[in-house]
Amino acid sequence: MSYPSPPGPIGIFDSGYGGLTILREIRQRLPQYDYLFLGDNARAPYGTRSFDIVYEFTRQAVDHLFNRGCQLVILACNTASAKALRTIQQHMLPITDPDRRVLGVIRPTVEILGKVSANRHIGLLATPGTVRSHSYRMEIEKIYPGMQITELECPMWVPLVEAGEFDSDGADYFVKKYIDRILAIDPEIDTLILGCTHYPILLPKIRKYTPEHIRILPQGELVADSLADYLRRHPSMEERCTRGGTVRFLTTENPDKFDPLATLFMRHPIHSDRISL
Ligand code: DGL
Repeated sequence: MSYPSPPGPIGIFDSGYGGLTILREIRQRLPQYDYLFLGDNARAPYGTRSFDIVYEFTRQAVDHLFNRGCQLVILACNTASAKALRTIQQHMLPITDPDRRVLGVIRPTVEILGKVSANRHIGLLATPGTVRSHSYRMEIEKIYPGMQITELECPMWVPLVEAGEFDSDGADYFVKKYIDRILAIDPEIDTLILGCTHYPILLPKIRKYTPEHIRILPQGELVADSLADYLRRHPSMEERCTRGGTVRFLTTENPDKFDPLATLFMRHPIHSDRISL
């Protein structure tokens, strides 16, 4: 007979800095819980990697967070949500950790579209991995059949963020390039999904090159609302999330590199610990 493991912090995982944009909103919405953030910065970006590798890296990260006591882990990464979530939920958890849960960011983002798009023309900006998985297209077809979606890969955006170049002229060039391209494919788009958690860090530039009437949808708030709703609907899991209001940071990179940028993105001083997966 197996006993559920003791309560622990909520795990938040991303390939790199992007997950911090989700963590920030989640903490604002649900400050009472403890959080453990893990960024696999040393191996980011994931967006250009194969299905098998993204699955393997994500599985290692989830295992690590489970070993540190997390009962619930949020994949704050679209690429991992697109390429690894289903396999983890259907094949890994039932065998290794039937009482723990792993949730992603794609479903909560798609669910909101019916409320925010007037003409049902949606644009998706995401990593090559997320776009090629067509996870957004498939979810949209299930929930909102007939909705028009244009998917575009933005392979340069994550490297710009990971390299700390999000405010540079190079970022202007590549942000404009992909916005112009998606709007040339479908000029009727009225809602643009930022389908990568790194992209909110480029938001000032994305806003600058996007016509004003187009709604830009970052994911942080949507994911925070969806987590609050999940915990309300699953009281037995809610009880297994500790409530100390703390947050700890783990990275596979050198903290000397991670901490200054993480401090900038979180808007308060960050001191991380280095781990290996
Ligand atoms: N933040 C990840 C996402 O949402 C970035 C993926 C990457 O590392 O390329 O997809």
